[in-house]
Amino acid sequence: MQLFIDTADIVQIREAYSWGIVDGVTTNPTHIANSGKPFDDVLAEIFELVDGPISVESVSTNAPGIIAEGRRIAAFHKNAVVKVPVMIEGLKAVKVLSSEGIKTNVTLCFSPVQAFLAAKAGATYISPFIHRLDMVGHEGADLIRQIRAIYDNYGFETKILAASIRNVKQVLDSLLAGADVCTMPLEMLEALYRHPLTDAGLQSFLTDWKRVPPSRLFEAAAV
Ligand code: G3P
Repeated sequence: MQLFIDTADIVQIREAYSWGIVDGVTTNPTHIANSGKPFDDVLAEIFELVDGPISVESVSTNAPGIIAEGRRIAAFHKNAVVKVPVMIEGLKAVKVLSSEGIKTNVTLCFSPVQAFLAAKAGATYISPFIHRLDMVGHEGADLIRQIRAIYDNYGFETKILAASIRNVKQVLDSLLAGADVCTMPLEMLEALYRHPLTDAGLQSFLTDWKRVPPSRLFEAAAV
């Protein structure tokens, strides 16, 4: 499963990218607004830094507008993926953009049937919003499982991009349900590394190491 970072904050993207586990970036209009920078500048910075798929959201609500924005986004960089909301006009646009070889990420997906329609339109990615479903009493992981079954039953190649991730359990559920990609904020990526037993174990090893006589081997490697 690939990991994407879900933000337009270049400092956070740079930090996560330096860890070697980030494959791409997803942004949305909220992230761009929160960055406090002009849209074009934010995009230039992200595309310069990351060599992987980068989703940029269209903001028109009619197909001709989405298609025009999508072509502009795609022309900006070879790694660009056009994010389009699930709706009739959006999927009309996805059909045209995908026929032109432009990659798309159909977003704001809350039902397996929406994911089926996105795949029929030729979407590259479908983004089910897991935490937003969990928050209203649904089981977000069930949506991934259902989409996985539909795509496997009918041989759709659209990738499942689990989005709106707010805890480690949702990442584990995404892995077990067969998501192709999981996108999350920096603090969530960081949380994936953590376990209290790791911290406690490391602490005791480092304490015990103080009782070992100095090592020439490690002295030479010290940085
Ligand atoms: O990629 C989805 C994300 O941009 C929005 O999800 O629920 O974390 O705001 P959320």
